[in-house]
Amino acid sequence: MENTTNIHFRAVTDADNIVWLHFDKADGATNVLNAEVFAQLDQQLQNIASQRPRGLVILSDKSNGFIAGADITAFTRVKSKKQALEFLRMGQDVFNRLEALPFPTVALIHGFCLGGGTELSLACRYRVTRDDPGTRLGLPEVKLGIHPGWGGSARMVPLLGGLKAMDLILSGRTIDGRTGKRMGLVDMVVPERHLRDGARKLVFDAPPPHQPAWYDRLSNHALVRPQLARVFAKQVAKRAPKNHYPSPYAMIDIWRKHATDKTGMQSAEAESVAQLITGATARNLVRVFFLQERLKSLGKDKSWSPKYVHVIGAGTMGGDIAAWCAFRGFHVSLQDQSPERIAPAMKRAHALFKRKLKRPIKINEAMDRLMPDHRGIGVTRADIVIEAIFEDAEVKRSLYKDIEPKMKPDAILATNTSSIPLEELSDALSKPERLVGLHFFNPVAMMQLVEVVNGQSTSPAVLAQAMTFTRKIDRLPLPVSSTPGFLVNRILMPYLMEAVTLEAEGVPAVLIDKAATSFGMPMGPVQLADTVGLDICLHVAEILAGHFNAEIPKRLQQLVKDGNLGRKSGRGFYAYKKGKPVKPKAGSGNWNMEEITNRLVLRLVNESVSCVREQVVADQDLLDAGMIFGTGFAPFRGGPMHYLDAIGATALKQQLKTLRTLRGDRFKPDSGWDALINSSGGETA
Ligand code: NAI
Repeated sequence: MENTTNIHFRAVTDADNIVWLHFDKADGATNVLNAEVFAQLDQQLQNIASQRPRGLVILSDKSNGFIAGADITAFTRVKSKKQALEFLRMGQDVFNRLEALPFPTVALIHGFCLGGGTELSLACRYRVTRDDPGTRLGLPEVKLGIHPGWGGSARMVPLLGGLKAMDLILSGRTIDGRTGKRMGLVDMVVPERHLRDGARKLVFDAPPPHQPAWYDRLSNHALVRPQLARVFAKQVAKRAPKNHYPSPYAMIDIWRKHATDKTGMQSAEAESVAQLITGATARNLVRVFFLQERLKSLGKDKSWSPKYVHVIGAGTMGGDIAAWCAFRGFHVSLQDQSPERIAPAMKRAHALFKRKLKRPIKINEAMDRLMPDHRGIGVTRADIVIEAIFEDAEVKRSLYKDIEPKMKPDAILATNTSSIPLEELSDALSKPERLVGLHFFNPVAMMQLVEVVNGQSTSPAVLAQAMTFTRKIDRLPLPVSSTPGFLVNRILMPYLMEAVTLEAEGVPAVLIDKAATSFGMPMGPVQLADTVGLDICLHVAEILAGHFNAEIPKRLQQLVKDGNLGRKSGRGFYAYKKGKPVKPKAGSGNWNMEEITNRLVLRLVNESVSCVREQVVADQDLLDAGMIFGTGFAPFRGGPMHYLDAIGATALKQQLKTLRTLRGDRFKPDSGWDALINSSGGETA
């Protein structure tokens, strides 16, 4: 046996003269690719080539996966297109040398194999993967504002055909080994214990590499491509407009021009990624990636491992929270005032499990974890009790008095209140330090963010436990102070109210929504208000208006009074057919779209400044993270505070002042602007 070792790789030759090249990145828990890794891989490949083995198997020694992709911190250090191009070409050269090796090469894949990891595996002749849902392959680069640049698309397109390959690349979605096998990306899918034998068999048998079927090849044909490229672009446009997200369109262009010319496609890939990576969209999306990592890192209290959750209130929120916790593997009991009130939540839970888990055995297991419990027996066993009953402080307090003596001494109590300060609730408890807020958003299964509300009495340990729990159910925890509306609703509300005011002034709802979606919001504010429910919007607006001395548009009050509550009642600002808004044409009015956008966005940004000043969250980055993951605030803009920085505090404050003169005091700049202007070196005005 020969061993060649450098910092990140270890090559071991077995008795059959197969080299097993172990990747175990020295200074991290996850394998990622950077310039140093490429240099060492190259050195290893040169040694192995000169050794003339029977075959080469590349595998990872990390338990969490094969390779997670490029080292994204390296992206932030790229200062110029030239520098980016060098890095990209370096990776391409190493992968080309791997591909050219004259003996069978196998990527042995477990866990995640993403981006550069999949690109490396594509440069091998074969791919064998572990058979489990946690093994994920994919090219998610578009989510970072770029596309594959190390030959990934140039290799995947001929291997799978244009249609399948471009679907994977443009969506950025990941697939498990079985799906990969069906598509032709993976050659063999085996249980963990057969992985090495599988790789060995591929080396020994050296079967012909996968060839796409004729119809898959046809989608790469020069005559088909222009038509198909238009279809791809149309599909992408539905979720990512070209002016905000250029990378999928660049990819479509490259494919249309070079699909059958691998060398040409590689060099176009590199040129294009070098251009994109230095642009604002990629920089902001990379920032969003790091914000997400930061939120994830907040919930890492290893000393606590809750198993049993008791949810009280089986309504819109409690029912869905209970279902989500059971889906994520917790044992959950769900309490309400009667079995009849719990039944609809159980039905919704079944629908969720069916959608997510598909296999009957898994669905049954999840249903078994979710117990209807109208007598509230589960409260005595629970590690965490989540209260989601009516939004009424007295009702909540009397419930707490009843349940606290039954709770385990170290169990925590989390309230899903959206507006009641924790201090108004915690004094009903003999241990007020165990109360924390877990403010979920509706719909629970879709909204990633959970505001973790730190009341004045909440103990740091309970806050940390609540964040850990949030991570355990795969949500993103955002610690916020116990102030009215917390962060997300407080910032969103002035924006929604401005939309209502605009509508009441006669601006067509479709135009208001268009102004917001053109800015980059996932949904316009009018449709969002209808979706949330106008009664809920009004309720939150009333609470916030009380605290912040704001006005509520009469139009909203009238709609609610008339029973037009939005989507759920079939009519709000829009009429609804089968749950979809019927949007009338905007008409011919001569509306100033720039002013409409400014009115919406500036109210949101002004409230963000106010939250920074009041330290509702610890810093501006957390505010941006909250608004991106809690509301979908235009990710390519990097969040409201990042947007403010990009445009400039002085300029935005001036715009607010102008709007104040034209439209009234609701545009009065918050006093927090001056500190921002001073810190950016500008002049206060
Ligand atoms: P809901 O009215 O749909 O459900 C409340 C449920 O609690 C009802 O089924 C009711 O029977 C039950 N309940 C009331 N008193 C109870 C008691 N003493 N014991 C057991 N069950 C009791 O209300 P929803 O919308 O689910 O809201 C619940 C909480 O979540 C509120 O605090 C609300 O502010 C908050 N919230 C609501 C959001 C929303 O979009 N609906 C979003 C985020 C938070």
